[in-house]
Amino acid sequence: MSRIILTGDRPTGRLHIGHYVGSLRRRVQLQNEGKFDEIHIMIADAQALTDNWDNPEKVRQNIINVALDYLSCGIDPTKTNILIQSMIPELTELTFYYANLVTVARLERNPTVKTELGMRGFGESIPVGFFTYPISQAADITAFLADTVPAGEDQEPMIEQTREIVRKFNAIYGETLVEPKILLPENAASQRLPGTDGKEKMSKSLGNCIYLSDEPDEIKKKVMSMYTDPGHLHVEDPGKVEGNTVFTYLDAFATKEHFEEFLPDYQNLDELKDHYRRGGLGDVKIKKFLNNVLQTTLEPIRTKRHEYEKDISYVYDVLKKGTEEAEQKAAKTLDAVRSSMKINYFDDKELMLEQQKEFDEAAKEREEKAKRRR
Ligand code: TRP
Repeated sequence: MSRIILTGDRPTGRLHIGHYVGSLRRRVQLQNEGKFDEIHIMIADAQALTDNWDNPEKVRQNIINVALDYLSCGIDPTKTNILIQSMIPELTELTFYYANLVTVARLERNPTVKTELGMRGFGESIPVGFFTYPISQAADITAFLADTVPAGEDQEPMIEQTREIVRKFNAIYGETLVEPKILLPENAASQRLPGTDGKEKMSKSLGNCIYLSDEPDEIKKKVMSMYTDPGHLHVEDPGKVEGNTVFTYLDAFATKEHFEEFLPDYQNLDELKDHYRRGGLGDVKIKKFLNNVLQTTLEPIRTKRHEYEKDISYVYDVLKKGTEEAEQKAAKTLDAVRSSMKINYFDDKELMLEQQKEFDEAAKEREEKAKRRR
């Protein structure tokens, strides 16, 4: 069986460092290891419209931002297919057929949908499109016969729902689709990077993000005003490491090389944490270290972005080629789906012959009956 990756992002803003440690960094690694036969990354604009239907301009503007972020992080279009979701109508058709295999009650139980519904405050007026986006996400994944979906843990309920749809489809219509598995980030800090204010999640609306495209002074300003341990008032006080955003970010980003270069008094993060817990280590020092770590990580990404920004027509070329190639794959899956469901009427020569035979037999019977009556 081929090994195929599909993953994606909603184009509602520039990508931030939460996206980077949660998924992007891994995608680039997987791409360069070369163990997969195909890698598809989807800019999920149709999904973005399920809660931004009144602002298509925002979605439109952010497609290029997300594409630029991908390329500048090292996604290589000769190895990875970047595609735009809404340009592939096959996905919509698959969604429509899969919708028959999912109950309203099951969608209501999807924990990610539940949280998002609460956050968006739809109240009693839940849009059908938003409510059913997990079904469309199942179409995204299965259209490419993906077996692996690198994503953050908030996507786990979507993958589980996809697996259920696949099992049900295969059981009813015959073995056709592939059950995907999620590939989570390596460590807990990377799975859910908190915002710079210590809130649970980085989110544009909370204004607590560090973007991949932030300029050095913005990064520094955000790091120096980050949430740490509110009980750590004086340098000599013992400090808390758990729930301390600076340490969570260091968990996600700091390497041995960073210590050698910027903080050679410490071997590793454990030693730094021990010192902080004991007391005698100030917030400014750890923030300065984190700033250095982030600056070195983000500098090459930003520089590459500025290069790509000079040639937007090249970026659209990448998207167009990627989308065309993706559509061919999705069309093949849709053909298989239609044939399993036996709704491929015009391709099925047998169908016409069988039906003709049945009608002919019925006509013959009618004739014989009429003869007997005479
Ligand atoms: N739901 C994902 C997000 O909010 C985006 C997405 C759409 C996706 N289709 C996907 C992710 C398929 C993985 C696989 O970021």
